[in-house]
Amino acid sequence: MSASTTPGPAAGAALGLGGRTAFGGRTALDGRTALVTGAAGGIGRACTLRLAAAGATVLAVDQDEKGLAELAALAARTEVAPGLPGRVEARALDLTDLDAAERAAEGVDILVNNAGLQLVRPIEDFPPEVFSRVLTVMLEAPFRLLRGALPHMYAQGWGRIVNISSVHGLRASAYKSAYVAAKHGLEGLSKVAALEGAPHGVTSNCVNPGYVRTPLVERQIADQAAAHGIPPERVISEIMLADTAVKRLIEPEEVAEAVAYLCGPHTSFITGASLAMDGGWTAH
Ligand SMILES: NC(=O)c1ccc[n+]([C@@H]2O[C@H](COP(=O)([O-])OP(=O)(O)OC[C@H]3O[C@@H](n4cnc5c(N)ncnc54)[C@H](O)[C@@H]3O)[C@@H](O)[C@H]2O)c1
Repeated sequence: MSASTTPGPAAGAALGLGGRTAFGGRTALDGRTALVTGAAGGIGRACTLRLAAAGATVLAVDQDEKGLAELAALAARTEVAPGLPGRVEARALDLTDLDAAERAAEGVDILVNNAGLQLVRPIEDFPPEVFSRVLTVMLEAPFRLLRGALPHMYAQGWGRIVNISSVHGLRASAYKSAYVAAKHGLEGLSKVAALEGAPHGVTSNCVNPGYVRTPLVERQIADQAAAHGIPPERVISEIMLADTAVKRLIEPEEVAEAVAYLCGPHTSFITGASLAMDGGWTAH
């Protein structure tokens, strides 16, 4: 019988605690391996350091080798990550190599699908090859990473999938056809993985931030200004935060904290969910 369906005294296993103390705190992921995509910057970097701080060995993958080197240096600096109990292993990987992506995920206990890219353009001007690349990196690669990761998770009766979706997985915005389509697709993929993974002790959830202070957002400001016909300095207040009740950008570390929670010992009943971190955007 699988871990998640075992009732009664074997509650530790049934709850997915995996032998860890119920209040394991920052070392709750001791002995676990995690793969974080898009780990070189922004949210991925914060997730990598947070999961390593919880004790996991984190395989940090990205196509950006310079960013990966910076991440590795950061993880080694004790003043940034004092006593980091886990480890960070950086590996260069372009996720459009889908076979390589699938292989990279073999054997991990935790998968964080985070890599992403954005282009802000009206549909009629949106380059088809960019649309295809966005869908490949943000939807097809997560599917292939799941294919690689699930057999090991199922075999051990425990696994955690966290998909960094977006408020744009739940709501649309003009000029973001590829991104909104990819994120809505990722929401569906996450729910299917939740249904299939449940009998095997594997959860799958989305985290849905509004605008986070990362390079992806910084790069978008000029694009948004052009698309909306306003000066760049008005983009954050008038476009990005227009529907957000909390009028500030989110910090990557806040998103990483939610990811660590979903990987932790108290969350085996949270699956197929989408955790909005949108400052009230979707409350409208
Ligand atoms: N920044 C935001 O406001 C925000 C809001 C909601 C959701 N998100 C999501 O969070 C995730 C991370 O975004 P971020 O803001 O940290 O962006 P970022 O640009 O800082 O990081 C994205 C990372 O993905 C990597 N990447 C892109 N294409 C790749 C490929 N083909 N192969 C390997 N790596 C690749 C990049 O090199 C980069 O390091 C994305 O999925 C994004 O959609 C971001």
